[in-house]
Amino acid sequence: MINNKPPRIGDSPVFCAIDTASLDAAHQMATELTGLVGGLKLGLEFFIAQGPEGVRAIAGHGLPIFLDLKLHDIPNTVAGAVRSVVPLQPAFLTVHASGGRAMLEAAVRAAREAAEDHGVPRPRLLGVTVLTSLNDGDLHDIGQDSVPHHQVDRLGTLAQDAHLDGIVCAAEEVNHLRSRFGPHFILMVPGIRPAWATTDDQKRVLAPEQAMAAGADYLVVGRPITRATDPRDAARRIAQDLAKAA
Ligand code: C5P
Repeated sequence: MINNKPPRIGDSPVFCAIDTASLDAAHQMATELTGLVGGLKLGLEFFIAQGPEGVRAIAGHGLPIFLDLKLHDIPNTVAGAVRSVVPLQPAFLTVHASGGRAMLEAAVRAAREAAEDHGVPRPRLLGVTVLTSLNDGDLHDIGQDSVPHHQVDRLGTLAQDAHLDGIVCAAEEVNHLRSRFGPHFILMVPGIRPAWATTDDQKRVLAPEQAMAAGADYLVVGRPITRATDPRDAARRIAQDLAKAA
């Protein structure tokens, strides 16, 4: 069988979550981690505080950017937001799969068209399925009488049908989702904790090498790197753990 899996973005599967509103702190982390991680994840906290200029500044360090904006609105508005994001050239951008088929299709179309218009690569679109902070009771409260992992399967299928590139998924689901969605659907996995790190508030975690063995394409690692006494050393140890297991 021909394996036409697209080449990996970044020199390593590790995207470090820079969860800060501070441009200086983000610059410092980007400087320290260049050469040691595959990319950086910037979220709403940073984007709302620093805007597109902040994203451009951090992208200037040369690492691929995962812009975790979790877009969710009517199709026309999300398409517009995607068009506004494309010139920033993030490698990855998130949208909520629960925004529905039309919204997802509009996002995919907008990413393709805007990338062509600007002559830049299009961002890989990743669907957010069920936030891991929601349990059965929370889903019931919002009218979704389904257990979270059924809802993840359903929304993942919708994302794949709408031609998104992949989904963000919990570490414990990677194995199942890899068999369900096949080898070409990107699985971006947070909730990663090396054996030597504390778990913080993440309840169900996998070590980097375990998540890769289960079928992850990319790993989101935040505090084990950013809150380490020596972030460079932490990133290096994760790279070594991955190399040992490869
Ligand atoms: O510090 P830590 O490694 O827990 O960082 C995890 C990052 O991944 C944070 O930016 C968090 O918002 C994000 N995330 C998560 N769990 C999910 C989805 C995203 O922890 N299910």
